[in-house]
Amino acid sequence: MKKFVTTTALLALSAGELIADEQIKLPVSFNSDGTINRPLNHRQWVNVGTILITKGEINIIDELPIPTSEYIDTYVEPMSYAIYMAPGTWPNGTQIVKEFTATKEAELGEVLVESHYNGLAMLVKDAERFPAETGHLGYFNFGHHSEPYETTAYVIPQEQCSSCHEASASEQQFIFADHHIGLRRVSE
Ligand code: HEC
Repeated sequence: MKKFVTTTALLALSAGELIADEQIKLPVSFNSDGTINRPLNHRQWVNVGTILITKGEINIIDELPIPTSEYIDTYVEPMSYAIYMAPGTWPNGTQIVKEFTATKEAELGEVLVESHYNGLAMLVKDAERFPAETGHLGYFNFGHHSEPYETTAYVIPQEQCSSCHEASASEQQFIFADHHIGLRRVSE
């Protein structure tokens, strides 16, 4: 049975009730051509942590070496965050973005200051839309460059993105929760 999560359901969740993912369907904005709409308020979602990738390393979005060190901030849509942290499984309609931020050149020992936002990738869990994909995850890219980002994106071919998520996050529903300090659950 599918249902939309209501405020009551979220209250129940905050009391620690475990709800199976297939019972829940959170809304995600798709178009009739299959493209997804870039969320416009992702910086108001829950920031679950920041990772630093150093200059010259390969960015997985375009497989090119990055010209400056980049911070990667991961944001989770708040309803899916509440359900996962309840604790529960990631629900259908889970949306997670990672945003890249370029930095100013810094000498060793200097503070690494952000210069500009520099790209956005996204992951969506949807069992109806991605029935055959591992973890029912669809992967998207709104560009690895400064803003403005693309407003819509087609799902990226499974083989381009899912290999590491399959190989290294299979015990975490294919989402790297253990890489994000903000996704540590009290019960774990
Ligand atoms: C080389 C291995 C690898 C590939 C290929 C890969 N990822 Fe990931 N991905 C990771 C790792 C490791 C993390 C956790 C650390 C982080 O956030 O960078 C992650 C995290 C993420 C996250 C945040 C949620 C989570 O699972 O932690 C998103 C969104 C994401 N990746 C999207 C993508 C997209 C889109 C692609 C394809 C363009 C892709 N990934 C390809 C390794 C990979």
